[in-house]
Amino acid sequence: MHVRRALLYVPGDDRHKAEKAIGLEADCVCLDLEDGVAPNRKEDARYEVANSLNAMQFGHSEKLVRINSIPSGLCAQDLEAILPNKPDGVYLPKVSRVDEIQWMDEKVGSYEKRAGVNPGEITLVVGIESALGVLHLSDICQASTRLSALVFGAEDYIADIGGRRTVQGLEMLYARSALVTCAVAFGLQAIDMVCTEYKNVKRLLDESQAGMELGFTGKQVIHPDQVAPVQRAFTPDMSEIENAEKIVKAYQAHMAIGKGAFTLDDRMVDMPVVKAAERLLAKAGKIKSKGNEGQGD
Ligand code: COA
Ligand code: MG
Repeated sequence: MHVRRALLYVPGDDRHKAEKAIGLEADCVCLDLEDGVAPNRKEDARYEVANSLNAMQFGHSEKLVRINSIPSGLCAQDLEAILPNKPDGVYLPKVSRVDEIQWMDEKVGSYEKRAGVNPGEITLVVGIESALGVLHLSDICQASTRLSALVFGAEDYIADIGGRRTVQGLEMLYARSALVTCAVAFGLQAIDMVCTEYKNVKRLLDESQAGMELGFTGKQVIHPDQVAPVQRAFTPDMSEIENAEKIVKAYQAHMAIGKGAFTLDDRMVDMPVVKAAERLLAKAGKIKSKGNEGQGD
């Protein structure tokens, strides 16, 4: 599975931004046909996205396309326009019911068959942005083996539940934590909300830190300046790695003398602490190799 610390949106009808995006070393470049494109520009956007997929070199960045939602009625045309141009994955927004995933899985699967693409090669990313979507998370996560990530859509979620968006974000805590919990339970990535105040670096860093602490594996971004700070925030730093290595080493030494719990730097260490340390080391290793392997983060 592709590492996705930053998922960078590019309005599908804006060729200049697409050209810019592929030079930013973002883990994932998401060409957007949905809300970043005006309704009267959808056809132009399909044309531009198809061209970009074909003609541009994405380097290490994943090529993702966000299509329009199933209820929009535009989704089938979007798929027809983009699938033959070989995106790495398709991102279906505003998913609220399990049959939407089944429909997509069937469409993409039958395309793979016709085009001679390996079954399951085209990955699916799903946007959860409504109360119903949150309620159906568990079923949605199990509806297709091609699913690789859940993305939280904060603005649409708040519009749906009728709360008020605050800096602290308590109004979204339940939904965000539910999304992370389900993602982890089913081996998927969890990608956090956009920081729309894109000139406010402090807010971006605070949000990224909070998202990482909640268990998100990455964050959606909308501007080039957000890519590097977000990717850094979702990468374990040297002191975290060294600390995790120290815990694992000390645990092995204490296991050898038959001690399951012990003290390290004035803190109790036992199996759950070791598991968390091992998880962090695995994550750091995956990011270092920017691999396409493995599950979750
Ligand atoms: N991807 C690639 N390049 C981008 C970009 C993006 N998402 N956003 C801005 N840029 C480019 C600009 O084109 C500009 O390039 P230039 O210096 O060569 O002219 C440069 O980065 C600096 O941009 P800036 O002038 O600061 O911003 P802007 O006024 O051009 O654009 C936004 C601001 C918010 C409109 C723009 O960032 C954007 O469209 N973001 C994506 C929005 C989106 O997709 N929303 C839907 C998903 S939530
Ligand atoms: Mg949305």
